[in-house]
Amino acid sequence: MAAKKVLELKPNPRTGRYRLISGNWKMNLNHLEAIQLVQKLYFGLRDVDYGFAEISIHPPATSLRPIQLLIESDRMHFSLGAQNCYFAPSGAYTGEVSAQMLSKLNVKYVIVGHSERRRIFGETDEVVALKTKAILAEQMTPILCVGETAEEREAGETDDVLMRQVRLAVADLSAEVVATIVVAYEPIWAIGTGLVATPEDATSGAQLIREELARLYGGDVAERVRIQYGGSVTPVTAHDLLEADGVDGLLVGGASLDAEAFSRIIRA
Ligand code: PGA
Repeated sequence: MAAKKVLELKPNPRTGRYRLISGNWKMNLNHLEAIQLVQKLYFGLRDVDYGFAEISIHPPATSLRPIQLLIESDRMHFSLGAQNCYFAPSGAYTGEVSAQMLSKLNVKYVIVGHSERRRIFGETDEVVALKTKAILAEQMTPILCVGETAEEREAGETDDVLMRQVRLAVADLSAEVVATIVVAYEPIWAIGTGLVATPEDATSGAQLIREELARLYGGDVAERVRIQYGGSVTPVTAHDLLEADGVDGLLVGGASLDAEAFSRIIRA
């Protein structure tokens, strides 16, 4: 199949940063359904749609290889992403997949510290830090998820939670490396709940994260880090969230499972 003529991906003129819109499929779709969804998304997008933001797709591990082959053979302008990995390179860790294994599949982005992993699978900040390091060591980019629960928000602890999650995840990384990561601000009360944060919430979360990074690594590094917003993003809310100050993209769960809805978000 002929390669699509693609407009060059342009950085946001306001920030100089490249936007990133990611589809986190979570534990949905078998590999056959996954192929269908990627094809549907591809056929629904026009060349111009690729100029605004890089698009990464994060299927379950069983679909990584088929989707890698599909993207590469049809030269689709999607980046392959994973949802998780383990920090050891190999060994007796039944059921786990290493960062090394992902990088062999040309995975570019790996979600780390998603609130579902923290809450359901007991991932601590220390584990998140080890995984972040392992991902970076394989020349992939972590999408580090941070966010406060409804209770923490009500208790006025949002700042502390975000700063702690960021600080511990990037502990003992060099400034040069930290500048390359992506952070996803995902208020937990907005994930899968239909409660979407306002653009002002997204801006204030992004600002807190950048302030903490600036405190740790300097303003220059903080200005280079890309920050996504995630949590119940829909085609209706995507535009304003993408335009929110300090927001460089979106991490989309539910709506990324629908080719039509996800392409409308990309066009937003
Ligand atoms: P949601 O999920 O869009 O379905 O709320 C977002 C996420 O968990 O990354």
